[in-house]
Amino acid sequence: MSLEFVEKIDLKKLVDMLLAAYADEWIASYYYTLTAYTIKGQNSEEISEHFLEEAEEEWKKHARMIADRLQDLGIDPPREFSKLWEISGCKYPEIPSDPYDIDGWIIAAVKAEECAIKAYRELFSYTHGKDPVTEELAEDILRDEVRHRTALLNLLSSEGAKRIQGKS
Ligand SMILES: [Fe+2]
Ligand SMILES: [Fe+2]
Repeated sequence: MSLEFVEKIDLKKLVDMLLAAYADEWIASYYYTLTAYTIKGQNSEEISEHFLEEAEEEWKKHARMIADRLQDLGIDPPREFSKLWEISGCKYPEIPSDPYDIDGWIIAAVKAEECAIKAYRELFSYTHGKDPVTEELAEDILRDEVRHRTALLNLLSSEGAKRIQGKS
């Protein structure tokens, strides 16, 4: 592959990074939706709403941006759903078996955001000064993922906040 608008970059590596991120967005979106439909107990309704909003931003905004960029590079998104899990860079952290352990579900989501933040930072560094279009995409999505992480942290109970500090 050689494209005039991308300089001095390994296109195969770039495409693989974009595909992994695309898969991560769908997987996060699925698990955030699952979280919204599963959690029970105090404040679960309000917290579910928040998870649904974030899920929507992952597939509607982020996956779309990445799919558009892949199309610029002549690549279609994977057709097999199972392929998404296979190529995902982050997969998804372990989720609690207890639907009442809302903090546990939030902590899994915080870890998912932290993995995404790391991946977009890498994408940003890799494309910096070489592929301004992808660089800008990475910067834009990175800003959203940092905001998601903060919002999720703010949903934790005081117990949950202690739990996550002990783990990090
Ligand atoms: Fe995202
Ligand atoms: Fe996110």
